[in-house]
Amino acid sequence: MPLAMTVAPLPVLDAHDPASLDRAAAILREGGLVAVPTETVYGLAADAGNANAVAALYAAKGRPAFNPLIAHVDGLERALTLITLSDAALALAHAFWPGPLTLVSRRKESAAISDLAAAGLDTLAVRWPDAPAMTGLVARLGRPLAAPSANLSGTISPTTAAHVAEGLAGRITMVLDGGPCLVGVESTIIADTLEGLVLLRPGALPREAIEAVTGARLKGAGGKAAISAPGMLKSHYAPRARLRLNVTAPEADEIYLAFADHRGSGAKAVLHLSESGDLAEAAANLFSLMRKADQMGERIAVAPVPATGLGEAINDRLTRAAAPKDS
Ligand code: TXA
Ligand code: MG
Repeated sequence: MPLAMTVAPLPVLDAHDPASLDRAAAILREGGLVAVPTETVYGLAADAGNANAVAALYAAKGRPAFNPLIAHVDGLERALTLITLSDAALALAHAFWPGPLTLVSRRKESAAISDLAAAGLDTLAVRWPDAPAMTGLVARLGRPLAAPSANLSGTISPTTAAHVAEGLAGRITMVLDGGPCLVGVESTIIADTLEGLVLLRPGALPREAIEAVTGARLKGAGGKAAISAPGMLKSHYAPRARLRLNVTAPEADEIYLAFADHRGSGAKAVLHLSESGDLAEAAANLFSLMRKADQMGERIAVAPVPATGLGEAINDRLTRAAAPKDS
């Protein structure tokens, strides 16, 4: 009898149980891959100092090896074993860590990071997440964890353990289930450059909060100072369906992602990012509703979402999701 092509189910353990973290740490020590919840999205963790583990991570995601990874740490002290930080960047670390802020800065020679995790760059991205499972694993290993979002490269980032399994079952060893991610969009990435702080990726920490600490307007990547996030490909977070943005009157065959007063009458179906127009709620719902809409139809239309606060990250992800896939 011919064997059916089946994918073994992905083991799911409770992220709140210390015994699960012990098992996950043992897997990571042996070079395995574990998906771990954070406050932003689920990450796919590997021992950042183990080049074989990091190579397996790139392979599991189908991620180009020129796209470097974020090293996750469990405190400022460990962060400073990896990178040097200017006073301005240190002020951000003090204000927002643990939290959804990633700092890219000069990598120390002594950093316990494989060159592959940093994609050979002399800079490194570091984040101390507000996520007890991730920091608990780093503490158990005594080493930073490289962790990109736990999805196949180019697809929508996962905000539940079930999303992780949809993309990565059969490719990784286990997922720690911590429930839905509270924030729902990835961290804000700031580069600490000689010309000052530069916003590489809008994210869960709004620019307004950062500017309130620095007292200056954040520069965007693309200026002279530009070092760019190599992973900021134009088409990303890509659903299967075609996606139209800033739509106030959806067509009859469109699944509508509604926001505030734009309720999408006339659409095939309506999913609400936030009925009350709350950007934090919309960010938390964004990726799971994009997945749901993608399963419900061939065309998705999205209501206008203001570009302030968390809206900058929401609009960034939507624009990438709408970009033609061959660009
Ligand atoms: O919220 C997050 O940041 C999540 C969770 C799991 O922590 N992680 C995440 O990782 O979004 P990832 O790999 O999906 O996105 C990291 C981005 C990529 O666009 C990558 O190119 C950029 O960070 N990056 C990493 N190292 C860099 C570096 N040295 N210089 C510039 N950009 C860098
Ligand atoms: Mg990603």
